[in-house]
Amino acid sequence: MRKNVDYLVLGSGIAGLSFALKVAGRGRVCVVTKSRAEETATKYAQGGIAAVMYTPDTHEKHIRDTMAAGDELNDEEIVRIAITESTDRVRELIEWGTSFDKEENGRYDLSREGGHSENRVFHHKDNTGLEIENALLKKIMDHPNIDILEKHFAIDLITQHHLGMSVNSSTPGIECYGAYVLNQENNEIHTILSRITMIATGGAGNVYSTTTNPEIATGDGIAMAYRAKAAAENMEFIQFHPTSLYNPDEKPSFLITEALRGFGAILKTRDEKEFMEKYDERGSLAPRDIVARAIDSEMKQSGDDHVYLDCRHLEENELIRNFPTIYAKCLSINIDIANDMIPVVPAAHYICGGIKVDKYARTSIRNLYASGECASTGLHGANRLASNSLLESAVFSHRAAQHASANIGSIGFREGIPDWDTSGTVFNEEMILITQSMKEVQTLMSSYVGIVRSNLRLKRAIDRLKIIYHETEDLYERSVLTPRICELRNIINIAYLIIKMAAKRKESRGLHYSLDYPRKKG
Ligand code: FAD
Ligand code: SIN
Repeated sequence: MRKNVDYLVLGSGIAGLSFALKVAGRGRVCVVTKSRAEETATKYAQGGIAAVMYTPDTHEKHIRDTMAAGDELNDEEIVRIAITESTDRVRELIEWGTSFDKEENGRYDLSREGGHSENRVFHHKDNTGLEIENALLKKIMDHPNIDILEKHFAIDLITQHHLGMSVNSSTPGIECYGAYVLNQENNEIHTILSRITMIATGGAGNVYSTTTNPEIATGDGIAMAYRAKAAAENMEFIQFHPTSLYNPDEKPSFLITEALRGFGAILKTRDEKEFMEKYDERGSLAPRDIVARAIDSEMKQSGDDHVYLDCRHLEENELIRNFPTIYAKCLSINIDIANDMIPVVPAAHYICGGIKVDKYARTSIRNLYASGECASTGLHGANRLASNSLLESAVFSHRAAQHASANIGSIGFREGIPDWDTSGTVFNEEMILITQSMKEVQTLMSSYVGIVRSNLRLKRAIDRLKIIYHETEDLYERSVLTPRICELRNIINIAYLIIKMAAKRKESRGLHYSLDYPRKKG
């Protein structure tokens, strides 16, 4: 099947849906999403969305906190843009039907998370993301100009490469003409041509064995953009959330929001000793990277598999009223958070880098934008300040929408794009190998490219990855495409970028491997 749309949006989280809603007045929009529409990281966000609303908070304070959390590696211009536009974007979410908790006097009940010097996090109990996702989806479903294709998996972006031209990262004027998309109901690969394409495919937590991210987070958009030769950056800055629930058989790891520490919960060792003051004067509310490293160090010293979060001193009714999801989840595994300490452990949570974009969310490829977790705006630097991700998605999807709708008039559809070439493929009987390889990548990333990294670990990681890469490319060439094999390839691309950029950051001299991607298909 072939289809022409004005705007093609890959992903149905906050970044994709808010962009779609804003451009739908200027053309037909097709939102493609690989699972059910609501199955996004957005839906699982707990803590909330940061924005400056009341005194004594100021933009300058939020800017300072964001830069400090990011180790000053942030792009200050981008930080200023995101934060000065934060209140307008939150107001818009409210106008679109999102409900944030209020105090009895009618003011918003703003909470605090690690690294914030003021209470500035808008939230809906401890399930803010679900509230936002539901509000956006309702508006999308009601919109006459927006089609949403669920269970449709974007495989690759279409560029001049598909017209037979040789394209590499220094080729000038690479353009995006749409994407090849696998319909998972009938296994057909559609050619969707677009004037403007927005990648909003979210994060890549599943490159690690333990992550808070839902299954959909396999870095597909970043990997597709990388294969299309778009610039990527800062991939090595993986954020590990300090407090995921320690429940070894559960995947993904259930998050225990940082807002619980903002509410007064305290990190402790098995023998009930507080330890964070040893590492940072802000104690349990230090920025996440500091807390995650401190927990990692305590676990290594004690040999324990986790530490604890203690809420037992907090007022029980208020605790349950504010954190009903966490209360119910813990109770389901026999932990009563009012009376028992919660076992917690760090887990991969967020990728600060991604597809490099400018202040209008433009990638290095023409007519291709990226927003949300897959994009690297420069807002987060080395470590994202809590609750700045939903904010970043809202701000930069807005800016992308403004830019794209002002320019779409001058962009046409590209003629002569071939359909996806399925020749040479056989029916896929190798499912078990794909699952096995996926686990191998996740294990090597967790073992060698986790919270603590060294040149030796990175070298081991790339040596092992290289073997899996070649095996997978071979399998891919012969296989009928399934989402699983595409995800495996994407995860390998992401792992490679993380290792390569981590090694570069360490100025390692010993890593000379290059992984070339054969491009026989598509
Ligand atoms: P997502 O919401 O993840 O959406 C990605 C979309 O892309 C999905 O629809 C997916 O199916 C689709 N997709 C992916 N690949 C393909 C493909 N190949 N083809 C088609 N579709 C595809 N941030 C905060 O600011 N505040 C918080 O309180 C907070 N809490 C969090 C709690 C948890 C448990 C997690 C996991 C994250 C949290 N974050 C939080 C981070 C934040 O939720 C995400 O960074 C943000 O929601 C990302 O939004 P997005 O639109 O970029 O991606
Ligand atoms: C949390 O609620 O702790 C997660 C917040 C975030 O990732 O920004």
